[in-house]
Amino acid sequence: MPHSATRPEPAERVQVPAHVAIIMDGNGRWARARGLPRIEGHRRGVETVRTVTNAARELGIRMLTLYAFSVENWQRPKDEVGALMGLLEFYLKKELQTFVQDRVRLRTIGRIDDLPAGVQKHLRHTIAETAQFTDYTLVLALNYGSRTEVVDAAHAYAAAVAAGQAKLNDRSWSTFSRYLSTDGLPDPDLIIRTSGETRLSNFLLLQGAYAELVFTPVLWPDFTKADLADACAEYARRERRYGLTSEQVKPASPATP
Ligand code: IPE
Ligand code: IPE
Ligand code: MG
Repeated sequence: MPHSATRPEPAERVQVPAHVAIIMDGNGRWARARGLPRIEGHRRGVETVRTVTNAARELGIRMLTLYAFSVENWQRPKDEVGALMGLLEFYLKKELQTFVQDRVRLRTIGRIDDLPAGVQKHLRHTIAETAQFTDYTLVLALNYGSRTEVVDAAHAYAAAVAAGQAKLNDRSWSTFSRYLSTDGLPDPDLIIRTSGETRLSNFLLLQGAYAELVFTPVLWPDFTKADLADACAEYARRERRYGLTSEQVKPASPATP
């Protein structure tokens, strides 16, 4: 659905997070509750991805990162991993037209080179076809894990130092973070996890250092635009202090005469 600028959504009147990241959890439990195989939950989860991607755009969220497959998820039963990869390929094939029509740029984080060749091919194609769009970005976290990411970054940084391309004594976050797979992306403002679990499961541990966290019991296949708007409303009620005092971060009140 194209973005409508005419009637503001409720969340647009409050402060909308620029970058929302979501740990999409609960597909398996959604399926089990209905006596269905886990893969049915994943299929429904893909439908939710489409709904929530549109919803985010309609709410004015310019960047959305979705945790779709973790480094640890390879240890699931082979059939489930295969089915998830199949669904990912299907999703990418189906969504390309929509990304172009809605002017959404696709990006990924994670070790993409270890994904099946077919998935990689569709990812590269979609990324190239949407690279020129600047208004909305969808980031898929695939074969992603913060610990792997930081090990890879340390390795790349050490290699750059050895090659004389980086300075050993720099020691700044702005330099080091360029070696993370999120290079060029702003930190998430809000991290949402569905399904009632209250952990981060190796997701954006460094980038989320100052993110607001919202946990909802809703299972991912049941997550709606209203749930996303509720999480944004909760975000807007928080005070982000970044180590400062409340007085320091409060907007200055008008000077008294
Ligand atoms: C999230 O749902 C999808 C992935 C991790 C790929 P789960 O499959 O983890 O669902 P639960 O946690 O078993 O309900
Ligand atoms: C986190 O969910 C990974 C994704 C949503 C892709 P998991 O279901 O794999 O996490 P744990 O195992 O409950 O921590
Ligand atoms: Mg889970």
